[in-house]
Parts: sequence; C-alpha cells; structure tokens
Amino acid sequence: MCLTNSFKISLILPQYRFMAAPIILGIESSCDDTSAAVLSGNALLSNVVAGQEVHKLYGGVVPELASRAHQENIVPVVDKAIKDAGIDKSDINGIAVTVGPGLLGPLLVGTCFAKAMAAGLEIPIIPVNHMQAHVLAHFIEEPSPSFPFLCLTVSGGHTQIVRVDSALEMRVLGETTDDAAGEAFDKTAKLLGLPYPGGPLIDKHAKNGDPLRFSFPEPRVPGLNFSFSGLKTAILYFVRDMKKQDEDFVEKNLDDICASVQHRITTILMNKFVKAAEQEGIQTLTIAGGVSANSGLRKLFAETCAEKGWESFIPDFQYCTDNGAMIAMAGRFLYDKQRFGDDSTVPMPRFAL
Ligand code: KG4
Ligand code: ZN
Repeated sequence: MCLTNSFKISLILPQYRFMAAPIILGIESSCDDTSAAVLSGNALLSNVVAGQEVHKLYGGVVPELASRAHQENIVPVVDKAIKDAGIDKSDINGIAVTVGPGLLGPLLVGTCFAKAMAAGLEIPIIPVNHMQAHVLAHFIEEPSPSFPFLCLTVSGGHTQIVRVDSALEMRVLGETTDDAAGEAFDKTAKLLGLPYPGGPLIDKHAKNGDPLRFSFPEPRVPGLNFSFSGLKTAILYFVRDMKKQDEDFVEKNLDDICASVQHRITTILMNKFVKAAEQEGIQTLTIAGGVSANSGLRKLFAETCAEKGWESFIPDFQYCTDNGAMIAMAGRFLYDKQRFGDDSTVPMPRFAL
C-alpha cells in the first residue's frame, strides 16, 4: 500500500458551486462577543451580537469563562441571525469565521462550530483574520472608501496603522510596541474604579469634562509605532499623588480626568495617523475597531481630516466593536478569490495581518 497516495487522496478539495452573489454566514468569537451575521451579495440581512456580562465581576476578560459563554451562545446566536435574515440554512453558500488573532478557547468554539456546520451543509468554510475584518467593516454600508486608503485600527488588543491597497492586500505601517489603545482606556478606567470594559465609560464621563485640565505625557516612539504603557504608569502615579492630598480626588474630578486621558490617547493616535498619511501620500483615511466608537476620537479624526482636506470614513457604531457583519464581509471578499479553508483549518491566536 502506498501511504503517499492515500494521503494525497485525502487532500483533494471538494468542488463547490461558485456563486456571483453568495449568501455568507459570518461568525465571530475571538474575545467576549459571540456574533453572527448573514450577507447576501453586498446586502447585510442580519447581525446578531451577544455580549458577556460575566467578565465585569473580574475586571477583564477571563478566557475560560469566555469560551464557556461562547459555547452557550453560539447556537442561539447563529439561529437568530439566520431567522432574522429570512433565509433557510440550506441557502447559505459559505461560512466565514474568525480564526485569529484572539483568545484560543473562544476561537476554538467558533472555528469548530463553523467547520461542523460547513461540513454538514457541504459548503466551504472561509477562515478570516479579525483585524482584516475590522478594516473591511467599511464596506458594510455605502459610501465606502476607494483604494488605496489608510486605516487606523484600534481595538482592545491591537493598535495598527494599515495601508490598504485592495480588500485583501493590507500592510501594517505601524503598531503598538506594548499596550493597545483599548487597553489604555480599560486600564485607566480600572485605576479610576470604573467597571470593565471601561472604554465606553471614560467616553461617557469625558463628555462632561475639561480635556485640558490635566496634562499627560505624549510618548516619543520612533516611526509610526505607538506605546501606551508609559501613559498608563503616568496616570497611576498621578492618581496616587493626588489621592495623598485628597482621598476623594478621583470622585470629585472624574469627568475632567476622563476627558484629559481621552484627549491624550486620541491625540497620540491622530498625530501618528497624520504622519502616516503624509509619509504615504494618501488622502483617504479611515478608522476601525472598538476604540473607533469613542466620540472624542471620531470628532478629532473628522476635524483633522476636514482641516487637511482629506476624505474620512467612520463606521457606524455597531460595526466598530466586534460583530459578525464584518466577518461576513471579509468572507465575501475571500469567497470571490475562493480562499477556502478545509478540515485542517485551526485557530491562529497570533494570526498576523
Ligand atoms: O474591537 P473590539 O470590540 O474588540 C477587540 O477586538 O479587542 O474592541 C474592544 C475595545 C475595548 O478595549 C473597549 O473598551 C474599547 O474597544 N471601546 C472603547 C469605546 N467602545 C469600545 N474605548 C473608548 N471609547 C469607547 N466609546
Ligand atoms: Zn475586534
């Protein structure tokens, strides 16, 4: 018996009927949101997101608890996405799923579910890079940016300036060397006694505060990279010192502290983004990822682009934080190039862009 031949036989890929306007089911489970969406051609038919409250008790995402919550949520979330879309599961032409980057356990839940469902329906599984999908969230709604454009992708685990030459050709020009922008928000919130995830709460308090009341340092990082760990330490010492003078300092000045921290984080991001645009000679700019839901960043980004005469694109709030729609949209672009996975598809927690 020839082992080599039998091995080759098992690698023959099934032939799928190619559709010009496929119906794609997108599944996201890389962190603490279980989400599923249905895309028909370019039209989004449904987008269901189930968050996970359990992590609030611990002040951050607990991977094992996230995996268990995904296991509980994935069947009802996918079922609802299919029902909301008004289709039958037999209408689906491909299942796009986040395979990384993200937490291994949560990724395993989504990937195994998608593989099993795709095998049952005899349709392709489409492995998706989560960071690529955040960028492609810009194609869910019109108007979408034209290529080439730059994207500042800011999430809980990543901070990247990406050059986007086509839907599937992306190059990271700069990224954080330590904490992500979302982490800077969340860790500051924790220091101030606010619950997880603190980013949206800092945003809320910042709306009533003075952004110039307290001054925090801007790190000197070469090129287009970022660093947020020094800022976190500066805020830690600032709070510690001020509390020595007045135990209630944080409570009394919460709005101004939040506004000042948000001002610093968003100016660090925008200063580098402007530098990247000038360096690349690109005048179409976009922002994406959970932190792009921040009202201060959205305002500063829009104002800066308007001043420079550049085109700017900001996703709708629901497509900034993790969602199945962006995974389905990335899946659509990958489907067109027939970039399918197979039985050997596995999660890649450190999947680079
Ligand atoms: O993209 P995302 O939903 O998940 C990851 O891929 O990480 O981003 C989550 C991050 C969290 O750090 C959260 O605090 C932050 O986005 N975030 C915000 C806001 N909404 C979400 N940060 C600041 N202001 C907001 N409004
Ligand atoms: Zn994300």
